[in-house]
Amino acid sequence: MAFRYYYADKIREQFSGFKGTDEELQEMIDNISLQYNSAIKVLETRLKILSDDFDKKHSYMPIHHVQSRLKTFESIMEKAGRYGIEDPINNLDTIRREILDIAGIRVICNYEEDLRTMSNILLAQEDIEMIKAKDYCDKPKESGYRSLHMVVAVPVYLVNRKKMVPVELQFRSIVMDAWASLEHELRYKNKGELAPEVVETLKDCAEKLHNVDEKMSKVRHEVLKDDGKYSDY
Ligand code: GTP
Ligand code: MG
Repeated sequence: MAFRYYYADKIREQFSGFKGTDEELQEMIDNISLQYNSAIKVLETRLKILSDDFDKKHSYMPIHHVQSRLKTFESIMEKAGRYGIEDPINNLDTIRREILDIAGIRVICNYEEDLRTMSNILLAQEDIEMIKAKDYCDKPKESGYRSLHMVVAVPVYLVNRKKMVPVELQFRSIVMDAWASLEHELRYKNKGELAPEVVETLKDCAEKLHNVDEKMSKVRHEVLKDDGKYSDY
């Protein structure tokens, strides 16, 4: 089964207490794999089409690359714990309602202004629902992290029904992504903890990189004399 991603026997080993049979658990988690993976495919395709059409119109592709992931079951359960969802293994419906980053797509664009261009064009599609947005570009996180986050619901057409499935989108410029990847790696390698002076240094790097992002954008406008045609959306 190409869509299968989570396995009932393994999940039972790690998270005991599911009240139904293995078949019932497998059915529930197969629904999650199928629907969230399909939502990722739908959005990836739509983003690719937009990037191609942008290229056709302006001879420019705003999207540098895209990375997608389905959250691991361990990570879903860990987040359910943080969100105070009781007996999560028996409340997968609550998890689906409350955990909105089971499916995640990172859209890495060339320049900072491309983030808004691409997100505006995507959100203009009439069957895409915006659930929430957090703009960490205008207001970076305490760490220095910059990115444009949003959760959108996309229609997934199944054999006899349509499901609106939430997907977390993170729009980043190449420069924002470079910082976030390195910072994440350092934090992860150090079990999530970083010394205060390291945190300060990384924050300083984030600010310097933000200046680089802005300068690169300016240079681009000067070189291309584009009169805003790439960002006028
Ligand atoms: P999570 O429970 O971590 O998903 O938090 P949340 O639902 O409140 O979402 P938030 O807006 O904080 O964004 C979470 C995601 O953004 C993380 O999974 C990372 O991918 C990314 N992120 C947020 N803050 C940072 C940061 O300081 N550094 C890096 N490298 N990534 C970050
Ligand atoms: Mg997350």
